[in-house]
Parts: sequence; structure tokens; C-alpha cells
Amino acid sequence: MFNLILKSGGKKIAYKNLSVSVRYFIDDKKLKESIKNFERISKTGLTELQRKTFLSKDSEGIRVSRLNGKPDEIYLVKLKLDDKFNNDFFRNHLAGFLQALEKEEVKHLHIFIPNFVHFKKYFEDEEYYFQTFVEGLSLGNYEFSNYKSEKKKPKLLEVTFYADNEKKLRSALFTSQCLMAGVNFTKNLQNEPGGILSPDELSQRVSRALSKERVKVKIFDEKEIRRRKMGGLLAVGMGSDNPPRFVIIEYNGASKYSTSKKKFGKRIALVGKGVTFDSGGISIKPYQDMWEMKADMSGAAVVAGTILSAAKLKLPINIVGLIPTAENMLSGSAMRPGDVVVTSSGKSIEVDNTDAEGRMILADALNYASRLQPEVIIDLATLTGACVVALGEFVGGLFTKSEELSKELFQLGLKTHERVWPLPMWDEFHTLNKSDVADVKNVGGRWGGAITAAKFLENFVDKKIVWAHLDIAGPAMSNNYNNYSKKYMTGYGVRLLIEYLRKK
Ligand code: BES
Ligand code: MN
Ligand code: ZN
Repeated sequence: MFNLILKSGGKKIAYKNLSVSVRYFIDDKKLKESIKNFERISKTGLTELQRKTFLSKDSEGIRVSRLNGKPDEIYLVKLKLDDKFNNDFFRNHLAGFLQALEKEEVKHLHIFIPNFVHFKKYFEDEEYYFQTFVEGLSLGNYEFSNYKSEKKKPKLLEVTFYADNEKKLRSALFTSQCLMAGVNFTKNLQNEPGGILSPDELSQRVSRALSKERVKVKIFDEKEIRRRKMGGLLAVGMGSDNPPRFVIIEYNGASKYSTSKKKFGKRIALVGKGVTFDSGGISIKPYQDMWEMKADMSGAAVVAGTILSAAKLKLPINIVGLIPTAENMLSGSAMRPGDVVVTSSGKSIEVDNTDAEGRMILADALNYASRLQPEVIIDLATLTGACVVALGEFVGGLFTKSEELSKELFQLGLKTHERVWPLPMWDEFHTLNKSDVADVKNVGGRWGGAITAAKFLENFVDKKIVWAHLDIAGPAMSNNYNNYSKKYMTGYGVRLLIEYLRKK
């Protein structure tokens, strides 16, 4: 990890000691010209160190060094704009590049962003194209090493970007930095062990971070949760020594920053599952990969991180964030299979499997959201393993009856590379959640598990409000598909939601 300083270089290209520069080329001729050019300006000539695949599986290039006293290095990266190229290329490439750079002595990095004309096919606008370069470096720079006894002091790395449109570049730099603050906040929460990040600790950290941006945060303690008859949240938290919490985040950007009457009062509710550790409860999980359940609060972390970014960006909208948070544990006071709990909506749930706890806490949160009567509700939850079985590790499940919202989120998923894929919401699926003793049962049986979970949630949402549920069980967790998703929980969802909110 570096201590990154990001800036725009304008027209001046300043080579400094210990600097590395990256240039991208689309055609071979220009690449060869460029090598010749470097040879001409460098008195001692260039040493070609490598002419093969480097730093990234998907790019080929040349690494040359100027050895006349200055150990500068220039990476000439050849781009193939074939069907394998996509709008995540620069993000992924620069994330990998930065990680490889850690082993080298380098203080300055110069990145030459190629002209947009060649990339119009892949990006809808130039500014967002620039943004992907900045995001790549920031995403690749993430590390969660608080608990290593040997503390490395991060080295300073000054990164200068060069692009033809400086105004847009500066704007992209600002946006990316606001965005990355939220993404990193989300990731830090996700990666924190459950033993530290209890529901109360999660609430406090969210409150502290957002209060700094002058966003209002309210926390309901267990007593208040009981008073409000949030039976789902209470039942899930019952088995743990760490009592549940309910967090309400209120960001009012429309009233503060916008003079537009139309936007005033427009409110979007974001709801996030905040299970700080999911043991499965009495229906205990198998031990394999159970550690990942420290990140079963990813939905909550994404909601908090998104609002943090939105506040930094001063987005002219009103957002309310709702986080039901509890720890799902086993003990003498834990809920049992067969129990019936009554939620704040009045609807009762038969607990068939204590491991289907996410939907129980979301029942209360979605009911709370519905009472606020926002225009749109979006919830995010690491809800089902079934969704990962259906869509794989890096795709989020998208559930909504609104065709418009579905299309919008799908497109933004492609844009941000935080991709979502729609799954059906037909009402026949409700039959699978029927209970003989309560209004609904918390599991829908063997088939279509991600869908029956979504249909369960639907019972607690006001039908008149546009609502989407994102099952992020797969993409929230680390995976090997990308240079910036290895090792650590991913922060998946923040970039997607910010793009959505920016359009509102
Ligand atoms: N938190 C899990 C889902 C999960 C699994 C998230 C893997 C991330 C990775 C959720 O609470 C759960 O246990 N779901 C059960 C539901 C089942 C009991 C109906 C599942 O998916 O097995
Ligand atoms: Mn569970
Ligand atoms: Zn869970």
C-alpha cells in the first residue's frame, strides 16, 4: 500500500527522480516510434528490459529503463481493442500495476491517458473514462493490515495524470476521490472481524464517519427496537451477547445544495443487511469458509459508504439509509427453528431455519422504509448462497418488478463493472414461503432460493413504492477475477449506487 497523492499534470510533463511512467498504445507503429523517440532523447540509450507480458495477464508491453544515472522506467503498454477489451481494462490494469510497483523504489508515477476518441465505443463519456484510471490505482492500493504486528509505513507515491481535456480530468479526480473514500470505508467495515465489529461498534463507526460530513445519524438500542416491536431484528439478535441496533442515516442534499424545487424532498431509501457475524444460529453452518460471515454486514457497509460518498460529492438529493444490525449466534437464548416472531409490520414469521436470518431483520427495516414513503427503496444484502450458485461470484442478483429500475441498474452495472443480473419476481414463488402457523415462513425450500428470499422481502414493502433488492452474497466477498477484488472484501455496490444517485 502506498500513501497516494493524485493530481493532474496539465500540459507540463515533469520527470522527476525515481519516476515511472505508463503510456498506452493502440497501434504498433506508434509504439515503435515512441521507443525510437526515447532512444533519441536518452544519451546512453535505452535498455530494453522486457518485451513480454507484464504486470497484468491481459496486456502486453515493453518495459524500458533510462540508465544514465536516473533509474527511470517507462512502461509502454500495447492495447488490443478486440472483443476481450472492456471498460474495466484500465481499472484492472492500473490496480495490478500499482500492486507490482510496491516492490520497486519509486516516488513518482506518470500516467498518460490516451485520447478518448479510440475508446468512445466502451465509455459513454470522457470524464467517466478518466475516472476509471484513478479508480484503478485507488482500488489496487487497498490493504487491510491493521492487525499485522509489523507495521509498514506506507511509502509516499505521487501520481500525475496527463490527459487532453484537463478540466474533465480534474473533475474526474475529485469525483474519484470522494467515491474512493466511501469505497474504502465500506471495505474497512467488511474486513473487520466480527469479534470487534459488533452491532454497536458498527453503528458507532457509521455514526462517527457520517457525522464528520454533517450527516444525521440516529441509533436505536435494543430497548427502542423492542418498543417499536421490530420482532425480526430482536429474534435474530437474541442469541448473541452483543445486542442488536437499528441505524437511521439522513442525508438531505436536496434542501442544502439544490435550489431546484423539483428535487426538493425527493427521497431514496437505501437499506442494508447488517449481520456482523452469521454463524447460522441453532441451524449452524458447516465450518468451511464460515469466516466469510464476518462480512455478512456488507449491505449495511455499502449503504453507509455510499452515503458517505454522496455527502462528499454534495449530491443534490435526499437519501435515508437504514441499517438493521445484529449478530446471529447460538446460545440458550437464541431463537429456535419452529419459533414464531411478529415483526413491526404486524406480520408473523415462522422460523424454519435460523440461518435465514437476513430476511428477518430486513423485514423490519423494509417496513420502516415503507412508512417513510420514499420514491424508491433499494436494499442490499448478502442474502443467499443460492444467488451465488445461480450467478457466480462476481454478479449481484437483481430483483424488482420495475422494468425501468431494472434496466437502469443493469446498465449502470455494466458501466461501473459492478454488474447485476435480473432474476424473476413472479408471484407464484410466494407459495413456497407459505407457513401453516404464521403469515410467512423464512425458507422457501430447495428450489429458487435467491428468488424465494426476495419474495419473502416483498411481503414487507409497500406495493406502491418502487423497490429493488440486490443480493450481493457473491460479489461482496473477495474473488480472483480481478486485480482489485483479490484478498479482501470488495466494497461492491458503492460505485454502482453512486452512479445511480448521480442520475437522480
Ligand atoms: N449470509 C448467508 C448467505 C451467504 C452465503 C452470504 C454465502 C455470502 C456467502 C445467509 O444468511 C444464509 O445463511 N442464507 C441461507 C438461506 C437458507 C437457510 C434458506 C443460505 O443461502 O444457505
Ligand atoms: Mn444465514
Ligand atoms: Zn446471513
